[in-house]
Order: sequence, then C-alpha cells, then structure tokens
Amino acid sequence: MAMKKVLVINGPNLNMLSIREPGIYGNQTLDEINTNITSYAKGLDIACDFFQSNCEGEIINAIHSVLKQYDGCIINAGAYTHYSYAILDAIKAVGKPFIEVHLSNVHAREEFRKTSVIAPACVGSIAGFGKNSYFLAVSAMKDLLK
Ligand code: DQA
Repeated sequence: MAMKKVLVINGPNLNMLSIREPGIYGNQTLDEINTNITSYAKGLDIACDFFQSNCEGEIINAIHSVLKQYDGCIINAGAYTHYSYAILDAIKAVGKPFIEVHLSNVHAREEFRKTSVIAPACVGSIAGFGKNSYFLAVSAMKDLLK
C-alpha cells in the first residue's frame, strides 16, 4: 500500500518548546520532537510534513493545503484551540480526518483551557502525554487511514 501523507500543524508559541515553561511542555525543541515523529511515523508507513506558525491565517492556509496534499492532519492549535472559530471552520471545510493534540493535560489547568472550539471538527483529541501525545495521534491516524 502507498505511504499515507499526514501534515502535523503546530500553532502559536510551540516554536518556543524547550524554553517555554519546560515544567509543563518539556525540554525538547519542536524540531527534536518532529524528528522523533518522523521516525515513528515511518515505521507505520506514514510520511509526515511539519508546519508551525504563530499566525492564525497561516495556520488556516496550512489546514486548507490538507485538502489536496494530505490524507489527514494532526493539529496542536495552541491557545487558538480555545477560541478560534476560524480554525474550526477551516477544519470543517477540508473534510479529512483531523486529530487534536496537546502536550499538557488541558483539563487539569486553567478554566479557559478546558474548552476546545475545534474539537467538534476533529475525530478525537489526545492531551496530557507530552510529546507522546503526537505519537499516539500518529498511531490513531494509521488506524483511521486504513
Ligand atoms: C497546548 C495547550 C494550550 O492551552 C496552550 O495555549 C498551548 C499548548 C498544549 O500543547 O498543551 O500553547 O496546546
């Protein structure tokens, strides 16, 4: 079977991993995590591309690119998760499988993090496992794309 293609999108402040609140988000850089995701996904016959932006519109354009270029998408929308109806609408527009990911357990933190406005457009959400949240999402995606 042909390799499936998955886009991994990271939103605002996730380029600051390893510097930003390491007690919550860990000591690894986003590049290091992405390298680990690439090897893990390869073992499952999935090719991952990566996109990070701090700008909502750029994230929306990346979501739109999933329509023609990818089989599915793993997204950590950062704080946009909690209030971006534009990102919700973009995911709905594309109609491919999206999995929501968070490094931290958003349900065990501040009240505003308990709401995800993008969750209804995603197949499911994985939160609280640090970088393993991404690996779990890749594994779930493998099953979805069978
Ligand atoms: C996050 C959780 C969000 O609440 C926060 O704004 C982030 C990171 C996570 O991965 O745990 O930027 O999405």
